[in-house]
Amino acid sequence: MTEVPSISLNNGVGIPQLGFGVFQIPPEDTRAAVLTALETGYRHIDTAQMYGNEREVGQAVRDSGLDRTEIFVTSKLDNDAHEPEAAQRAFRRTLETLDIGHVDAFLIHWPLPKIGDFVETWHAMEEMYRSGDVNVIGVSNFQPHHLRRLLDNSTIVPALNQIEIHPYLTQDELRAFDAEHEIATQAWSPIAQGAVLGDPVITSIAERLGKTPAQVTLRWHIDRGDIVFPKSVTPARVKENFDLFDFALSEDDIAQISALNRNERRGFDPDTFNPSS
Ligand SMILES: NC(=O)c1ccc[n+]([C@@H]2O[C@H](COP(=O)([O-])OP(=O)(O)OC[C@H]3O[C@@H](n4cnc5c(N)ncnc54)[C@H](OP(=O)(O)O)[C@@H]3O)[C@@H](O)[C@H]2O)c1
Repeated sequence: MTEVPSISLNNGVGIPQLGFGVFQIPPEDTRAAVLTALETGYRHIDTAQMYGNEREVGQAVRDSGLDRTEIFVTSKLDNDAHEPEAAQRAFRRTLETLDIGHVDAFLIHWPLPKIGDFVETWHAMEEMYRSGDVNVIGVSNFQPHHLRRLLDNSTIVPALNQIEIHPYLTQDELRAFDAEHEIATQAWSPIAQGAVLGDPVITSIAERLGKTPAQVTLRWHIDRGDIVFPKSVTPARVKENFDLFDFALSEDDIAQISALNRNERRGFDPDTFNPSS
């Protein structure tokens, strides 16, 4: 079976560099999709309280027949649970809903610049970590200014920052900030929900290498050192997206794909996103 590289996080815990995302997979389809991913060889699943499918992710993990220690499961704190006691209650709910023992990583989903105080939320996350029920704590959608405030006012450095990255939004400055502080970067919407797959630069590299545009794009993330978890409910694509380790991109290929950056987001901008508006 394909060996997916493991990235060592700042507390020594390893995370598979390639995983499977379940955003927008309806609960009734999630168990089957995750089982297909686990049968294919994925050992890292990315869910969130907001996705409404933690229960079905947990069912698939339990039904897979794999040892729990072989699978890395991430979930994320919902935006309405930032107040520290609410965050603790929400974390306990995630543990119960997943029902797979510990959770491998738990992240603050959004920094919420307009409501709540994510520094106080982070202190609650530090307590969760000390409880031993989560192996890794981190953040998502944090910009350098959010991270600076967090680092100046806390004890534990986040192990992960999960942000939108794809060839049209390469995020070089934020990735450099993460790297400087030993925070591993995770790329969400890695194929821009399909928007980059028809790009002539990507299709011509794919044709030359005999791979698909999705494989070339995902390999670009892997070669840049980021952690990536494409989503698909289509079994053939789940397999295609896992088949990344029998070819290499040249430095020129990587540079050409990186040069496609247009700072174009598919999702919300963390500096303006206000879920209460
Ligand atoms: N932290 C955050 O705020 C945040 C935000 C968004 C996403 N995420 C995480 O990142 C994961 C991935 O992001 P995403 O789901 O937004 O987008 P994505 O993985 O970039 O793209 C998923 C879309 O591309 C299609 N697709 C997948 N593989 C394909 C292939 N090989 N060829 C052609 N089309 C393909 C899928 O269709 P089918 O499913 O129909 O096959 C789906 O429509 C999410 O599932 C979630 O875990 C996190």
